Amino acid sequence: MSDLTSPPTTVGQAPGSGAAWTDRYRSAVMDTFGPPQRVLVRGEGAYVWDADGRRYLDLLGGIAVNALGHAHPTLTAAVSAQLGTLGHVSNFFGSPTQIALAERLLELSSAPEGSRVFFTNSGTEANEAALKMTRRTGRSRVLALEGGFHGRTMGALSLTSKAAYREPFEPLPGGVSFLPFGDVDALEAAFADDPGSVAAVFLEPLQGEAGVRHLPAGYLTRVRELTTEHGALLVLDEVQTGMGRTGSWFAHQDPTIGEGVVPDVVTLAKGLGGGFPVGAVLALGERAASLLGRGQHGTTFGGNPVAAAAALATIGVIERDGILADVMDVGAHLRSAVEALGHPLVASVRGAGLLVAVELTAPVAAEVASRALDAGFIVNPVSPTALRLAPPLILTREQADTFVAFLADLPTTTGPIEEDR
Ligand SMILES: Cc1ncc(COP(=O)(O)O)c(C=O)c1O
Repeated sequence: MSDLTSPPTTVGQAPGSGAAWTDRYRSAVMDTFGPPQRVLVRGEGAYVWDADGRRYLDLLGGIAVNALGHAHPTLTAAVSAQLGTLGHVSNFFGSPTQIALAERLLELSSAPEGSRVFFTNSGTEANEAALKMTRRTGRSRVLALEGGFHGRTMGALSLTSKAAYREPFEPLPGGVSFLPFGDVDALEAAFADDPGSVAAVFLEPLQGEAGVRHLPAGYLTRVRELTTEHGALLVLDEVQTGMGRTGSWFAHQDPTIGEGVVPDVVTLAKGLGGGFPVGAVLALGERAASLLGRGQHGTTFGGNPVAAAAALATIGVIERDGILADVMDVGAHLRSAVEALGHPLVASVRGAGLLVAVELTAPVAAEVASRALDAGFIVNPVSPTALRLAPPLILTREQADTFVAFLADLPTTTGPIEEDR
């Protein structure tokens, strides 16, 4: 039997080499992401290996996805067992894993009576569903934040502020206004305009794609006050920050981020399935939970038993192994170790738990990320001046220290970093 992944002979390249795979990628995969930085063939714990046998410490975790790292035995076993028992049913039917996952998520979010869950396959779909919920309030104005990222499907894109993502696809669904990030006066003015027209405020408790940006103290509290006062929904996009990433199950449960605010809707994905695609919308309380009625929304794969089993296993391991406490510990250690370097290229470090940004003193983040890759570390230049780290939640202090040592060895001026290459 032929090996389905074995490459055809590529002139001048060893079959199965990174270069050969990259060529095949270029001619078969749509060019929306650019060429792959490496072709990865396997992973274990916090490490991955490329097609040429090189090992990398994965400090990006598939962009905040691989909560348990790679090839975690409990997750692998749960997914295999579920696929071997019942792999998929339509939403005409329920399954024990789907129901148990909905219950677990309601427990973890301390959901009030009447709360319900809707399952999706990704973050953008979770936000799409949440946006549809806001329409069911009978109002159509939604306030979102500049710098916010909510996904690439048309509805989620309408909530995403970056012009380069939006403009090629306009017209987008209407009704969304973008407020300057963290500006309470602008928020109050937007409500004062026509308070009865605001269906929802939609935001990330900690902006991920914008470079791990914290809202100023008091902002979220004011959002909650105004939304409550005017009957609007507060939707928190926790696609990136949820499921233990910041050291709490949900970032808003950390008082330093969420300020004790209770949202109406929370969207999740990324870390939820530990690497298996699954998303969810948590509708907290009777009102939010009843916005979408029968027949008003749906998805074939949402609530798939295998995806639900993956999420249950991920949650189970995080709980069993006390991983939330480790996230707090290793995250704090990493941030303080990077700060303690006093490296001239490091301006500051921000974030919560294991969602971290290292702000640089010069726009060389892409250069540093490329050097890091060559040195065996996967990091993300989330902006020209910032590196984002969102490693597996099982990262150890010792593993984090190897990256700190890499940073320590960077040239102390920005000149050589560009000239060296
Ligand atoms: C906060 C936030 N919301 C939504 C999304 C979109 O999720 P997905 O890529 O699973 O569609 C992302 C992805 O980066 C995100 O960070």
